[in-house]
Amino acid sequence: MRRKLVLGNWKMHGSKAQVRQLLAGLAARIGEVSSAVDVGVCPTHLHIPLVADLLAGSRIGLGAQDAYADPSGAVTGAVSVSMLVEFGVSWVLVGHSERRQLFGETDQQVATKFAAVLEQGLVPVLCVGETLQQRQEGDTETVVLAQLQAVINKAGIEALGNSVLAYEPVWAIGTGETASPAEAQIVHQALRAHMAAMNAQVAADTRIIYGGSVKGANAQQLFEQADIDGGLIGGASLEAEEFISICKNAD
Ligand code: PGA
Repeated sequence: MRRKLVLGNWKMHGSKAQVRQLLAGLAARIGEVSSAVDVGVCPTHLHIPLVADLLAGSRIGLGAQDAYADPSGAVTGAVSVSMLVEFGVSWVLVGHSERRQLFGETDQQVATKFAAVLEQGLVPVLCVGETLQQRQEGDTETVVLAQLQAVINKAGIEALGNSVLAYEPVWAIGTGETASPAEAQIVHQALRAHMAAMNAQVAADTRIIYGGSVKGANAQQLFEQADIDGGLIGGASLEAEEFISICKNAD
């Protein structure tokens, strides 16, 4: 049985005061969430030390939104995976569509990051997803399977067993538009079938979470789908009550 996972992606949000307030809100209510659900938050790199301190002893895990593959070097502005390890990070998002679009990350760069995260013993959360135009042209599966395959080519199918996949249709991110549970399930099933053709056990074990305008009100129907194992939550993860409501719907 795959455990459900709900991760908050805080993106470029939060002052120190807001971070403290949000975590206090989560701490007050995390007890309402079934222990069968894994929960984590991904703050900015700058807030990671603060969040790590505030989460000490909590069942809420810590993730990062990105990392640079090399352990150290002349890379202005970057943070390496090994630096994140020192701060108690468990998950690292790789290939989020905002990284692909705003920073020009290619499938190859994403695959290199994925491998580096695994090598340091952390769990990569590989994000894949199609744009609106690609969906309208009927290319959804081709696009997401190519994004997945680029990582399999680099890291091997077994590596997927130690990772999390996140299906995030680009047109649903931050737009208020969500893939319907049935639409999302079709893509999740295709991703799992693609892995199953190479390794049935990895396909059965790997969590595939959904992201794109998930809220308390639509989480349950999404999470009920056979191949949806939780969510990657952007905007709604910035409000404690809404995020907790989503987590409760994952059980
Ligand atoms: P959203 O973002 O929930 O605000 O749509 C999801 C994500 O980008 O991870």
